[in-house]
Amino acid sequence: MAKFVIQGPQRLSGQIAVSGAKNAALIAIPAALLARGATTLKRVPKINDVGVMLDIIKKLGARVEIRDSEVSIDPATLNSHSLSRELSGKVRASVLLIGPLLLRFGEASIGHPGGCAIGRRPIDQFLEGFKALGVEIEDNGEEYRFIAKRLKSASYFFPFVSVTATQSLMMTATRVPGVTILKNAASEPEVAALADYLNRCGARISGAGTSTIKIEGVEALQGSEYAMIPDRLETGMFAILAAATRSPITITQCNPEHIESLLTILRRMGARFKQGSDSIAILQAKEDYRSPGKVITHEYPGFPTDLQPPLTVLLTQARGLTLVHETIFEGRLFYVDLLNRMGANIILCDPHRALVQGPTPLRGKRIESPDIRAGIAMVIAALAAQGETVIDNIYQIERGYENIEERLRGLGAKIEKVN
Ligand code: EPU
Repeated sequence: MAKFVIQGPQRLSGQIAVSGAKNAALIAIPAALLARGATTLKRVPKINDVGVMLDIIKKLGARVEIRDSEVSIDPATLNSHSLSRELSGKVRASVLLIGPLLLRFGEASIGHPGGCAIGRRPIDQFLEGFKALGVEIEDNGEEYRFIAKRLKSASYFFPFVSVTATQSLMMTATRVPGVTILKNAASEPEVAALADYLNRCGARISGAGTSTIKIEGVEALQGSEYAMIPDRLETGMFAILAAATRSPITITQCNPEHIESLLTILRRMGARFKQGSDSIAILQAKEDYRSPGKVITHEYPGFPTDLQPPLTVLLTQARGLTLVHETIFEGRLFYVDLLNRMGANIILCDPHRALVQGPTPLRGKRIESPDIRAGIAMVIAALAAQGETVIDNIYQIERGYENIEERLRGLGAKIEKVN
């Protein structure tokens, strides 16, 4: 199995361009199946999770053509509404195929979707939402079967905010007669980007990007073009990397507004940066970093759970005690054990809370990547640490970051991928 071998500590410099957003692409692929004609997706990141989703829709019969970062998807040849347990187990985003398959075939079946090991990942919000739209659901313990005899519009309140459940119901409702209102909806930029694409295809969605979304059902959607928004989680990760290695790095082709929560924390910690309309220049730090006191993950526009592991690496280098409160997932703090092995001083109080005491020098170690975001956090830690770090299980990292070792080498990082 492939691994990364990283030498630190490393002062990096230069420019790095951000890829198209993974989590925009993972929803764009199923959304392209809603239209009558072909859709061209642009700025699609070449990462494992996207490859798996494209393989799944090919197996369902869709025609897929890939030209560099452009992917054309023609749903006309779709011929199956059934996802094996093996396929759906590969990626959590497979659950997003239910809506398009239901609209096309009147039924769909999937096994329980897979995904990162970051805690329980139930799909009850999807099930309840689909029921509200008139879908009948059978669960035989092995797989779910969805039957749509007559879809009806609804006013649906999400008991708690879910990004992909919001996206799933929003895209399904585009072709349900009547007006559907989604309340307590997720307002992440990837939800608004999806609505923009669907509206270009002929949908009538308003309010996406706020907590109430209105969808007026239309008869059909046409294929269109959809360029992925910049990956805000990659943008934030590069900003944290620059701060943790005290490196002057300019991040380009990004949208700084999408990571305002992180930039606010970095400013409080004493990091220096210059913000442009589509770039962020992280300047060399002049002083030691200070603890921001508390970091609480929250739905957008709050501080994203996906940036919590990378930021925790930086917190190990800040003076003082920081409480990291992970409110979204109950399994997203266990990697702190790996940081402790590298020399950090972190107490895991319970599955949702960790206390980080800094600053502590980090030392290279042999570690394993637990999931996408904790995995990239280990890469940042390794570049800031003294000595050699070997990271196993890098499949997890490559699920979310395109060609990451080559791009980091472009900044001067000593990182090798060894098979
Ligand atoms: N939840 C339920 N029931 C559901 C759905 C969600 O209990 O039916 C819970 C989850 O277990 C979690 C909370 O609701 O505790 C919020 O999860 P959400 O549904 O918002 O997460 P998601 O839609 O499955 C997306 C991203 C994640 C990101 C989260 C939170 C995609 C494909 N995935 O997941 O991204 O962490 O939102 O922002 O958009 C990643 O990129 O590494 C990643 C895991």
